[in-house]
Amino acid sequence: MRRRDLLKTIAPAAFLISQRSVSAMDAEIVVQPADAGPTISPQIYGHFIEHLGGVIYDGIWVGRNSKIANIDGIRKQFVDDMKRIGAPNLRWPGGCFADGYHWRDGIGGKRPRTYNYWQSRTPAGVDGSEPNQFGTHEFMRLCRLLNAKPYFAGNVGSSTPHEFHDWVTYCNAPAGTATLADERAANGDKEPFGVEYWGIGNESWGCGGGMKPGEYAAEFRKFTTQFPGYTTPFFVATGPRGHQADIDLSWTRGLFENLGGRFPDGLGLHYYTDLRPTTIKAGTFKPNEWFEVLRKGAAIEKVIEEHWGAMGQVNPAHKTRFVIDEWGNWYPPGEEIGPQYILSQPMTLRDALHTGITFDIFNRHTEKIAMANVAQTINCIHSLFLAREDQFIRTPAYYVFEMYRSHMGAQLVPMMIGAPQFTAPVLGGTVKMPGLAGSASLQPGARAVTITLTNASLSDGVSARIRIAGGGRASEARGVVLTHSDMQAGNTFATPNAVAPAPLKPVVSGDSVSVSIPKQAVVALEIRLV
Ligand code: AHR
Repeated sequence: MRRRDLLKTIAPAAFLISQRSVSAMDAEIVVQPADAGPTISPQIYGHFIEHLGGVIYDGIWVGRNSKIANIDGIRKQFVDDMKRIGAPNLRWPGGCFADGYHWRDGIGGKRPRTYNYWQSRTPAGVDGSEPNQFGTHEFMRLCRLLNAKPYFAGNVGSSTPHEFHDWVTYCNAPAGTATLADERAANGDKEPFGVEYWGIGNESWGCGGGMKPGEYAAEFRKFTTQFPGYTTPFFVATGPRGHQADIDLSWTRGLFENLGGRFPDGLGLHYYTDLRPTTIKAGTFKPNEWFEVLRKGAAIEKVIEEHWGAMGQVNPAHKTRFVIDEWGNWYPPGEEIGPQYILSQPMTLRDALHTGITFDIFNRHTEKIAMANVAQTINCIHSLFLAREDQFIRTPAYYVFEMYRSHMGAQLVPMMIGAPQFTAPVLGGTVKMPGLAGSASLQPGARAVTITLTNASLSDGVSARIRIAGGGRASEARGVVLTHSDMQAGNTFATPNAVAPAPLKPVVSGDSVSVSIPKQAVVALEIRLV
């Protein structure tokens, strides 16, 4: 398609990315800041931490007497780096752990050692029991250090509305108004925690109780009806059964039909790029395994669209938005950083591409998504950090959070990408991959557009020309690129800085900006407008 013809196809209000052939390795991108639309919820760039393997203990909680630098027992490096990316929220304490957690075990001076859901999945000889050293006050301390919103996952599977409501009162009742508030004050926090986000169980179709949609809907109604109203709660219902392409519309439909009109604020959708049924490894892989992971990851878009449609059939007003409170690449076991760090895995450039592709999808569907939480932030499935005692590294995924930070709270900008698709090998065949994928936003109060792009090709860079449509002109532009000559590159304790962002220099000329995007790369551009 000739450049003039391509630009004619651009619809002013389109918030879609389309891929069209231009000439090999050339891309035409048009952004329309004058038509900026919905605000991208900062909460989309959120986190999930669970009492699982080395996530909490050693990952985050090193203890007050540790030689590792800490703030009241919390690993200082973790706090510093999470602040750098503006972590907006933390989901805790699970995951599957949540439906076995009794909050009283984690408060006060003398704490019991208890059973942990993940204990039976911990290798022989490793103590996987729960020491309860990190509980409600320690979690809230972490949230306050980060200025992140707490998102509690309540225990529905092995608890009662009574126990749950007591936890809410303990957290949120003003000092002096309830015995539980006095107890909180005696434990060091006079001021209420003001927790708004409450998950009503986790995966209640599975580890959270093995329920049917109608059974769970009844629990949801009981847990939320007599809710202590110290704050305006944001309730998240357990979302669809399954983890990826098998995600089941029947749960979503059944749940919504049985709620009696009591629709939640959020539906907790879990989407893992689940590689466990394959032999694809996290750290070493072939080109077709690179593309297989990226292709499976991008399929989250279809899941979002289908479930949004199903929810809309029962509640056309769409009171409920998605809380994608677990997402990430989940590889088969065997590459953990140590036996007690179950589910930990190396992260490579491939996972950085996957992260960028996922965030661009979330941004483009921002009106459907209230929150998302990567699973899990440290020492786990799709982690930003790996930590083992005094060793600590940022993975390539961390840098994507950093590069995409400007999208948080910005307005989504219509963007059209004209880039040649290419054919890529995957498991069992080939697929068409987009030449580039991405999203754009207008920063609030600033005349600046952020554009993020991923180039999944393992062989070709892309020369992109970005045009500002609707009368705007670029005054200056700067960029950052995350790439490496080796697709398998990742950061390890021995080579902590192998994959790190580098500056990228776009060229401004009138109403357009040109930039060379390397192969296998994530790019973030900031274009200042006049
Ligand atoms: O993130 C690991 C586990 O995956 C969570 O505990 C559970 O919710 C999901 O199945």
